[in-house]
Amino acid sequence: MKDKLFSGIQPSGDIHLGNYLGALKNWIALLDEYDAIFSIVDYHAITVPYEAHELQQRILDATAIVIAAGLDPERSTLFVQSTVPEHTELCWILGTVTRISDLERMTQFKQKSQQFYQTVNMGLFAYPVLQAADIILYKAKAVPVGEDQAQHIELCREIVRKFNKTYGETFPEPQAILGEAKRILGLDGQAKMSKTMDNTIGLAEDPKSIQKKLNKAVTDPARVRKTDPGNPNICNIFTLQHFFSTPSEIEYVDRECRVAGIGCLECKKILGKNIIAEILPIQEKYENLKYQKKYLQDILAAGSKRCQEIAATTMEEVREKLGMR
Ligand code: TYM
Repeated sequence: MKDKLFSGIQPSGDIHLGNYLGALKNWIALLDEYDAIFSIVDYHAITVPYEAHELQQRILDATAIVIAAGLDPERSTLFVQSTVPEHTELCWILGTVTRISDLERMTQFKQKSQQFYQTVNMGLFAYPVLQAADIILYKAKAVPVGEDQAQHIELCREIVRKFNKTYGETFPEPQAILGEAKRILGLDGQAKMSKTMDNTIGLAEDPKSIQKKLNKAVTDPARVRKTDPGNPNICNIFTLQHFFSTPSEIEYVDRECRVAGIGCLECKKILGKNIIAEILPIQEKYENLKYQKKYLQDILAAGSKRCQEIAATTMEEVREKLGMR
């Protein structure tokens, strides 16, 4: 039997290149190695303000785009978190073995509680506990995520150790799997590319809009004029070239930027062309899939059924260990 892998994505905005490079590509690469379970995590998405009437459509859109990108539903399980309520039950239980001081030092909580200071709520604080529940409900050992989530997986391991020590060996300690693109920066070249910031390139975004956004994106801040030599080492656009362009294009840009042989706009044109070439086939599949509501709903329903069965078995064991049966 293959080890289980678990990962999740929030249906809280358009899936962007950070999600694609930092997580999704790795999910797809690991499909055959693991018994892979992926969740559209709607319980997590409601920890910050959102539009309730848009949620179902966002869930279907996220499902369509991950499948279009190559997440084969025949070789993995895909489901919506809230259709398996055991996630919240286990979250509550894990909350009783989680230290408040550990949650307080979570970088994501600190950052989001500043960003959403008017609505900071208990769900946002407990976000990593729910994430731990997501993973261990399936006794998953591998968790492919971007670097921003590594701290949450470390906390999950801590929670598992505490649970196992208190109630007896029950869960394996999961391991974060980071890909090559650990932390993709946004178009501002400063902050992480993020659905809640206005700094993204969407995977389903119109090619013209992608090029337009790239053209305005921040590059080497010291390069003011086209005649100034640039430093690719500190340029986010150059970093992105590594994930989309050919070795000879990267070498060309690197060399010519340093001697002001090319300007930033030319570099951005090369990048734009290559991003669009890679994501165009995904967009074409997505355009077709997103109207197949029944097909998407059936995939999610089948995934949910399988997950409900696993979750029920785990929770039987957990309730018994806690003296609740
Ligand atoms: P979400 O939707 O915010 O992000 C989904 C995945 O994309 C990665 N990611 C990035 N990677 C590199 N550079 C970026 N700029 C970037 N932005 C996002 C994230 O690291 C993540 O892997 N909390 C999770 C969802 C979740 C989850 C789980 C993941 C809920 N339960 C259990 C793993 C296991 C999240 O960040 O979603």
